[in-house]
Amino acid sequence: MTDWPIHGTISGPIVMIGFGSIGRGTLPLIERHFKFDKSRFVVIDPDDADRALLDERGIRYMQASVTRDNYRHLLEPLLKAGSGQGFCVNLSVDTGSVDLMAFCRELGVLYIDTVVEPWLGFYWDNSGGAAARSNYALRETMLAEKRRNPGGTTAVSTCGANPGMVSWFVKQALLNIASDLGMQFNVPTTREGWAQLMADAGVKGVHIAERDTQRAKKPKPANVFVNTWSVEGFLSEGMQPAELGWGTHEKWMPENGRTHESGCGAAIYLLQPGANTRVRSWCPTPGPQYGFLVTHNESISIADYYTVRDASGKAVFRPTCHYAYHPANDAVLSLHELFGNGGTMQPEHHILGENEIVDGIDELGVLLFGHENNAYWYGSQLSVEETRRIAPYQNATGMQVTSAVLAGMVWALENPNAGIVEADEMDYKRCLEVQLPYLGPVQGFYTDWNPIKDREKLFPEDVDYSDPWQFRNVLVR
Ligand SMILES: NC(=O)c1ccc[n+]([C@@H]2O[C@H](COP(=O)([O-])OP(=O)(O)OC[C@H]3O[C@@H](n4cnc5c(N)ncnc54)[C@H](O)[C@@H]3O)[C@@H](O)[C@H]2O)c1
Repeated sequence: MTDWPIHGTISGPIVMIGFGSIGRGTLPLIERHFKFDKSRFVVIDPDDADRALLDERGIRYMQASVTRDNYRHLLEPLLKAGSGQGFCVNLSVDTGSVDLMAFCRELGVLYIDTVVEPWLGFYWDNSGGAAARSNYALRETMLAEKRRNPGGTTAVSTCGANPGMVSWFVKQALLNIASDLGMQFNVPTTREGWAQLMADAGVKGVHIAERDTQRAKKPKPANVFVNTWSVEGFLSEGMQPAELGWGTHEKWMPENGRTHESGCGAAIYLLQPGANTRVRSWCPTPGPQYGFLVTHNESISIADYYTVRDASGKAVFRPTCHYAYHPANDAVLSLHELFGNGGTMQPEHHILGENEIVDGIDELGVLLFGHENNAYWYGSQLSVEETRRIAPYQNATGMQVTSAVLAGMVWALENPNAGIVEADEMDYKRCLEVQLPYLGPVQGFYTDWNPIKDREKLFPEDVDYSDPWQFRNVLVR
């Protein structure tokens, strides 16, 4: 495509916080798809490694860290410069999303981020125990802000690929499954309607099932953590407790599983790091595979969104939901090296740029399982080759994220007074329409695989044969 559609006008300043792999990749999409005043576009990042990209475009760069102490006086003049409505695009690590979105909304400025990011220090502070370091706790802070200040200027929470785009995939996948089952239904228009449709379709759970096959030209050196997106982001979430939306069909919980005492109640956590927790899952290219159950906002938000409650408020249906992530092989080796060394981080981190990759795809989708047609994967199979053709400064993993940021920004401009929203609450159709040109093949696949297939061939295992889709069978123990 050469005639890129203009999706809207950003009438005020644009302030991008963070110019790492995702910030860099989002820049050309903003340039392509929005009208805006370049003289009021500012990028803030303490690291000036890529400032040349900004200098050559005449975009202002500010070398600074956004902190809990300085965010108000640093950002206000930038966000309120001149007339029109500003847009704050937060693509950084270590910046407090909830404080930033609350402040933007106070100023009437649109806001988007891709994780509920805490201020610096949160991920490594174990003084409150594992529950306090969970994504459940982070998401509850966002929900509390939403309850305190309902409605108002739109702030889109956690709108990358996952969390983000995968919530739109769940809706499309559910409609495809319901149609293929021959169900009579109308496309739901409310949260309750979507949840009921999932219950009626017999879906027991959702894996965010991902296989990244991107291969580096050079083999991974010892003592370097190599990944296809933020190493810092991956390590932070990977060392949080494993967390999953907890379905009403589950009959067994691991001994180190814990529930939360307050909040939405949709998820549990395990007393072990997600990046060292393996689950059985399935993606179209590899077929059955091990993935890591790394905690993610969408594991909780999707389980929460699709909960059906009875008149007394008791949850009568909820899907189990979690990430099952097979990152690039170099990242798997990096995790192996890290956990083999007692969880000590490698001194060097490296994010593979698009030109350091030989080939590969990021196959990222949702696997809806437990229904009469067993399991259905729906998602994007974007290759690095296609990514190089369609947009600069990113690999396939980045493109799935940056195009979701683009879709979220378009939706926010079209719905400027929607308050704080998660991807589950946005118009999945409109968002996917904006994003599709950047996702490579987006397709659905049924599989007859389940997690009790080929078990106990040589050794006894603890398998629940009465229901293949129990977490007891999915978790690798
Ligand atoms: N939802 C998704 O699908 C998804 C996918 C990938 C990344 N992410 C998230 O997006 C964010 C960015 O990811 P990335 O791959 O670009 O990471 P990155 O590590 O490449 O870049 C992060 C940038 O933030 C900057 N930064 C650090 N502290 C800062 C501060 N106090 N103020 C301003 N900038 C600061 C760093 O210098 C760096 O340039 C991370 O939070 C990551 O978890 C979300």
